[in-house]
Amino acid sequence: MERGEVGDVRKKRSKWAIPLVLLVVLVLLIIIAVVLGVTLTGRQSAGLKTDFLNRCQNFKGYDCENIWKTFKQVFVNRDPCNVSEEAYDPLIAAVPFKRLCNQTMLWSKTNKAVHELTTGRDCLQTIEDTVLGSSLNNLSWCGMKGSEETFTTGCPEWNECVNNSVRSFWRRASAAFAEAACGDVSVMLNGSISTPFNPTSVFASIEVPRLNSTKVKSLNIVLVTNSVSNCSNASLQSLKTKLDQRIVYTCKEVTESQITDCSAKPDCGRCW
Ligand SMILES: *[C@@H]1O[C@H](CO)[C@@H](O)[C@H](O)[C@H]1NC(C)=O
Ligand SMILES: *[C@@H]1O[C@H](CO)[C@@H](O)[C@H](O)[C@H]1NC(C)=O
Ligand SMILES: *[C@@H]1O[C@H](CO)[C@@H](O)[C@H](O)[C@H]1NC(C)=O
Ligand SMILES: *[C@@H]1O[C@H](CO)[C@@H](O)[C@H](O)[C@H]1NC(C)=O
Ligand SMILES: *[C@@H]1O[C@H](CO)[C@@H](O)[C@H](O)[C@H]1NC(C)=O
Ligand SMILES: *[C@@H]1O[C@H](CO)[C@@H](O)[C@H](O)[C@H]1NC(C)=O
Ligand SMILES: *[C@@H]1O[C@H](CO)[C@@H](O)[C@H](O)[C@H]1NC(C)=O
Ligand SMILES: *[C@@H]1O[C@H](CO)[C@@H](O)[C@H](O)[C@H]1NC(C)=O
Repeated sequence: MERGEVGDVRKKRSKWAIPLVLLVVLVLLIIIAVVLGVTLTGRQSAGLKTDFLNRCQNFKGYDCENIWKTFKQVFVNRDPCNVSEEAYDPLIAAVPFKRLCNQTMLWSKTNKAVHELTTGRDCLQTIEDTVLGSSLNNLSWCGMKGSEETFTTGCPEWNECVNNSVRSFWRRASAAFAEAACGDVSVMLNGSISTPFNPTSVFASIEVPRLNSTKVKSLNIVLVTNSVSNCSNASLQSLKTKLDQRIVYTCKEVTESQITDCSAKPDCGRCW
């Protein structure tokens, strides 16, 4: 009888032990998943916001918290492939590009060289040297339909869809940046590739058509060359014809070492 009782208790315990353990494990897994999910998405959005604010605050006189809110509103709770260039109009209106006379530097396929020249030398400005461009340079961002979160991973690639949150920003901002150009404008193009002026580039398709001869006197090509292409290249001749004919066109071949030398010059005099 006694053994039988003990046996019953044992049987009872072993009957419930496994489901109970499973239940506890399940509850723990759910808790871990929820905590992990919250901190991961939380960290993602905090990362973008922190990066944005830190970089924005390097510029004096901007209400960075408000700029962040205006920026975020463009793409949160939206399909990342359904953010048009015009959706960024409120952001551009809130942070307009200053009219830059004789200081605008456009570029295509010369990311490193052009910023070597403009960074830390207050003579020429690329879009990445402005408050908006600097705050978003190299970042990826998107939203998701039905969520108020911002995401930095899993966002569409540049050419994955036409109207994606990152591409639309750069196209809209580049248009506004070119419209703000004035006086003598420079553009650094890459002479190590066969078509330094590529008709599908942002420079060709967005910026050139917006250089307005009522403000812009000249467009000065700085062709960084190591003997592949030179200023006689046919693609550059086509740039000349695409340009508003009242804007003076010049082209100069320079080497990367000339750029390095120039970036060390403290004054804003001519480098070539
Ligand atoms: C894209 O966004 C607009 C609002 O800007 C909306 O009217 C439209 O339905 C969206 N399209 C898709 C396919 O989600
Ligand atoms: C992208 O947005 C523009 C509006 O700016 C719209 O006219 C066009 O149809 C959109 N393209 C696609 C593929 O959704
Ligand atoms: C721009 O540069 C040209 C030529 O160097 C000069 O004549 C002109 O005054 C400059 N304009 C401004 C607004 O600085
Ligand atoms: C020009 O393009 C080539 C090939 O993409 C690249 O390796 C090189 O760094 C570029 N030159 C400049 C000055 O950016
Ligand atoms: C962006 O990336 C380039 C090269 O990939 C790097 O040189 C530059 O410092 C980066 N800029 C920022 C603001 O992170
Ligand atoms: C150039 O600017 C003038 C005056 O601001 C404006 O009337 C004209 O439409 C502009 N032209 C182009 C091609 O944007
Ligand atoms: C420019 O490049 C072309 C083709 O590579 C070459 O035939 C021509 O002599 C070059 N012109 C100059 C001025 O270097
Ligand atoms: C010059 O431009 C033409 C087309 O615009 C291109 O096909 C050619 O390869 C370019 N480069 C050289 C080195 O000739």
